[in-house]
Amino acid sequence: MTQLWDPLTIGNIELKNRLVMAPMTRSRADAFGVPGEFAAKYYAQRASLGLIITEGAQPSESGQGYLGTPGIYTPAQIKGWQKVTNAVHEAGGKIYIQLMHVGRMSHPDNVASHQQPVAPSAIAPGEEIFTKTGMQAIPVPHELSESEIQQVILDFKNAAVAAIEAGADGVEIHGANGYLIHQFLGQNSNQRQDNYGGAIENRARLGLEIAKAVSAEIGPERTGFRISPLNHLGGVDEGADSEALYQYLVQELSQLNLAYLHVMHVTKDQMLTTIRQAWQGPLMVNRAGRPLANLTTDLDHDLANLVSVGSLALANSDLVARLQASAPLNEPKPEFFYANAGEVGYTDYPTLAESNIES
Ligand SMILES: Cc1cc2nc3c(=O)[nH]c(=O)nc-3n(C[C@H](O)[C@H](O)[C@H](O)COP(=O)(O)O)c2cc1C
Repeated sequence: MTQLWDPLTIGNIELKNRLVMAPMTRSRADAFGVPGEFAAKYYAQRASLGLIITEGAQPSESGQGYLGTPGIYTPAQIKGWQKVTNAVHEAGGKIYIQLMHVGRMSHPDNVASHQQPVAPSAIAPGEEIFTKTGMQAIPVPHELSESEIQQVILDFKNAAVAAIEAGADGVEIHGANGYLIHQFLGQNSNQRQDNYGGAIENRARLGLEIAKAVSAEIGPERTGFRISPLNHLGGVDEGADSEALYQYLVQELSQLNLAYLHVMHVTKDQMLTTIRQAWQGPLMVNRAGRPLANLTTDLDHDLANLVSVGSLALANSDLVARLQASAPLNEPKPEFFYANAGEVGYTDYPTLAESNIES
């Protein structure tokens, strides 16, 4: 594990190591989008990781899709996040808040105003979503007008300011996994005829405008961006020009000198090589379900500067200590990923020391 434990500077902070907690929705916020009772404890437990990226937080009410996700746009939400960032900083960690607008991956029953989900085009993803009354089909979304798109950009900018006010070291713009920005990138989800649809430059425009607005406001050194090329989550398909699309998007993002680019990499190593060449700054790579033995492969091959892990960090608050000691790891319990069951499956995964006492 060559460079994994070496420090790395991203933007204006030094990370003590290169192992990052990937953003993970945990659906434990209150009805007002305020992070839940045990959120500060959960994140602070994981402060030995080089960087924590929080669960996605909606920048506005219409950005919410799932029940129990936190927001980052009201004073109460900012106060709630302050508890989280203070706890992480006191424990010696660094924390970025992920800004996630789900776009069409929502349901009127999951937002207070019962408004229709929004998207680049009036095309439903053809999927179901969990609501208070069980699983329901996701309805056809409202196609955003150009002026509504400007409001979305403003919402991201304001949310970034709110995140900094809440004490975050920075924000990660969620441009991945089938949510709003990715829906604009997708050929099948974006059939617009205006400046935000069609050609590569147009489909990439929303993500770039958000990145520019956020980084101009809080500083590029506090702005990260996440993409998931070729990941068809939420029914999004970038289409035949996907490699040229990401090459363009990443080259343009690279001009902004952001703190990092985060790639959720699912397939085709050629894509990762293209991104590596197009991106000048620190590159963070997440490979879904990567075997532990391959944890540092991208670092060793100079394809990444940072490695992020999801479920391993969820299930092992002391992941750094366990890896350094080559100790066994806790298994994640998926039944508690989104279950608001107090501390169960959230803050009660045993540390190595606790496991040793128990055994
Ligand atoms: C419970 C859970 C919630 C997730 N929520 C988010 C999220 O809010 N934002 C995001 O960008 N990715 C999210 N992901 C994806 C993870 O960040 C990560 O890319 C994925 O888990 C694959 O990495 P892993 O195999 O190390 O877990 C989530 C994953 C899990 C398991």
